[in-house]
Order: sequence, then structure tokens, then C-alpha cells
Amino acid sequence: MEKKIKWGVTGSGGIARRRTIPEGISKAEHAKLVAVYDTNAEINKEVADEFHAMAATSLHELLKSDIDAVYVATPAGMHLNDVISCAKAGKHVLCEKPLGMTVREAEKMIKICGARGVRLGVGLMMRFVAQHQAALRLIQGNRLGKPVYGRAQLSCWYPPIQGTWRQDPEKGGGGSLMDMGSHCIDLLEMFFGKARSVFCFINNTVHPYKSEDSAVVSLFFENGALGTVDTYFCIPDNSSKNILELYGSKGSILAKGTIGQGPEGEMTAYLEEDNAGYNALQQRAKGSGFSITPKPVNTYLAEIEEFSCAILGKRSPSNDASLGLHSQKVLEACYKSAKTGKVIDVKQ
Ligand SMILES: NC(=O)c1ccc[n+]([C@@H]2O[C@H](COP(=O)([O-])OP(=O)(O)OC[C@H]3O[C@@H](n4cnc5c(N)ncnc54)[C@H](O)[C@@H]3O)[C@@H](O)[C@H]2O)c1
Repeated sequence: MEKKIKWGVTGSGGIARRRTIPEGISKAEHAKLVAVYDTNAEINKEVADEFHAMAATSLHELLKSDIDAVYVATPAGMHLNDVISCAKAGKHVLCEKPLGMTVREAEKMIKICGARGVRLGVGLMMRFVAQHQAALRLIQGNRLGKPVYGRAQLSCWYPPIQGTWRQDPEKGGGGSLMDMGSHCIDLLEMFFGKARSVFCFINNTVHPYKSEDSAVVSLFFENGALGTVDTYFCIPDNSSKNILELYGSKGSILAKGTIGQGPEGEMTAYLEEDNAGYNALQQRAKGSGFSITPKPVNTYLAEIEEFSCAILGKRSPSNDASLGLHSQKVLEACYKSAKTGKVIDVKQ
């Protein structure tokens, strides 16, 4: 069995160059970068030279090269066409989040990849954060008790930039909610299970572009827990601490900065063995928490390694496209709620 998956990358000049190629494809034990493509030929050549890959001059040329899989890191509006082209060429695909711009696009991608017998994964890589996996194990081990409430926050400062795809819903599918809120919702669903219904506000609080710069989502999970996601393009980077809070009947797990691209961030658990008796004074014992400090995991390395190993092992990857399709279903319900002012059930 071939021990390394030969990778091509389309959209080499963005997150691929910043993170996924240097930290993921170049470092993964079971991956090797072979060819890259970007519509910006100059940048593509720089990336190819830097990482010793072939610079393809078209997607067609990339797909004709000696590769097994493609990492699609183009703007969201390009995902559908890129994934279809890869599937038709018989290449496995790891597509960046969001998986296209709509439920319909995600469904089309899954259908064609299934028909062509290639695997399709999605870049919801924040699931791989070591603290998130440690928290998940605590929740699965019933240490949090019955899940009660989760909050996930991811924001940044994203001023108007002429022609930028994320600021135009026709090119990006949406703004802060589609781009960053998708990670937050996905994480809360990893911890608490699927959301049954949502209520959502979106707004352009600061920036006048077409995509929303502000979103707050309330989630009602199938297991009865509640949740909130807040995500903004109009809060200074240093002000947004990317808070994650998970509460249950036996305690809480509180984190700062674990939601994001890097391994920084801290997480503390406050857990009780049994439900405490009623305390009318609502006293809080000091220092009762413990830090959750697992060995850091590079999420870009983890997503590439997982997808490569799944191809080699002929199994479904944990970052399978079904997560991306479900994410689109929740996002669709959120945007519908924001438009109608109603609580919307998530289509299952
Ligand atoms: N998981 C993460 O940590 C993370 C972080 C950032 C972006 N993303 C996702 O990655 C994707 C790209 O985002 P980005 O921030 O890198 O965007 P970007 O605009 O910074 O980079 C996109 C690159 O794609 C190129 N490009 C545009 N159209 C193309 C086409 N048709 N064919 C080939 N190349 C094309 C551009 O020239 C540019 O180099 C999006 O889906 C985004 O949501 C994920």
C-alpha cells in the first residue's frame, strides 16, 4: 500500500500558504505535496518554489498531475465547481469550510463524490484542538453531567476591502456567521449533539458591506441543552478572546482562546462528583477547578493526516463531508430565522 497520499492544492495563496501547506501537508507523515494551483500565477509560483511543488497553470493541469487528493482552499463560491472537477478527475477532496455556500451545493458535492468513488472531507479543523478533544472525553464520560448550556465565540476585525469575497454573500455565502460562526456551531454540536432548532439575529453593526458583520445564534439541542454562538467581523482582534463555555448539571468547562487557528488557549474544568445539595447562600469554593493541558495538536496537521490515513485505510474520515452538509443545514436555518424573525427547525 502507498504510504503517502500525493496532494494537490487549489487556492494555494491563502490559508493553504499561511497554514495548511507548511504546518499540515509538508509535515504529515502520510502526505506529500506534489502540485499547486492559484488564479494568481505569481503567488502560485512563490508557493510552488517555497514548498518544492509543481506550479500548475490551470485546475485542469493540476488534476492531470500525479496526485491522489486535492485540498480545495479557494473562496467558498468556488468550492462547488472545484469539488466537481476533482471528483470527475477521480481525486479525493478535502474541501475547506464552508462546504460550498448552501445545503444544495453541499449535497451536490457529496452526491458526485459518492458516484465517482472518491472521498470528500471538510476543513472543520477546530474539532482537532487537543483541549476540545479532552473536553469531549469528559462530557462522554458523564463528568459534566447532563449538558445544560454551551457558548462558543469567534470574532475578529475585518474592515471593508474592495472586492473581498467574504464581504459579498454571492461569493462567500455569508459573513461572520458563515465564515467563523460555522466553526462555533460545529464545536457545540460536537460536544452536545445536533441542534434541533435555532433563533438568529444578524446585523451590519459597524461595516457597510453586503455580508453581515455581526451574528448571534441561540440553539436548542436535541438533548435539551441550550447554546449561544456569537461571531463578529467588527470587534478588534485583541478584544475577542474566543470564549468557550460548557455547562452541565455536574459542572463546567471554561476556555479562552482554544477556538482559533493556533494551539494557544487555556481551559479549566470545575466538576463535582455528585450533584450538590441546595445552598441558599450560593457559595462558590475558590480554586476548585483543574486546568486541562493536553499535549497541543496542530489542527492543520491533524486534518491532513486524518484524511490521508482514511484514504489509505479505505475508511471514512472523522472530518467527513457529512459534517459540512449538516453545518450548512444549521446555517440555512440561522439565516432563515434572521430573515423571518422566527425560530427555525434544522432540517435533518
Ligand atoms: N479552517 C481555517 O482555519 C480557515 C482559515 C481561513 C480560511 N479558511 C477557508 O479557506 C478558504 C479560502 O479562504 P482564504 O482565507 O484562504 O481566502 P483568500 O482569499 O485569502 O485566499 C484564496 C486564494 O484562492 C485564490 N483563488 C481565488 N479563486 C480561485 C480559483 N477559482 N482557483 C484557484 N485559486 C483561486 C486566490 O487568488 C487566493 O490566493 C475558504 O473556504 C475559507 O473559509 C479556513
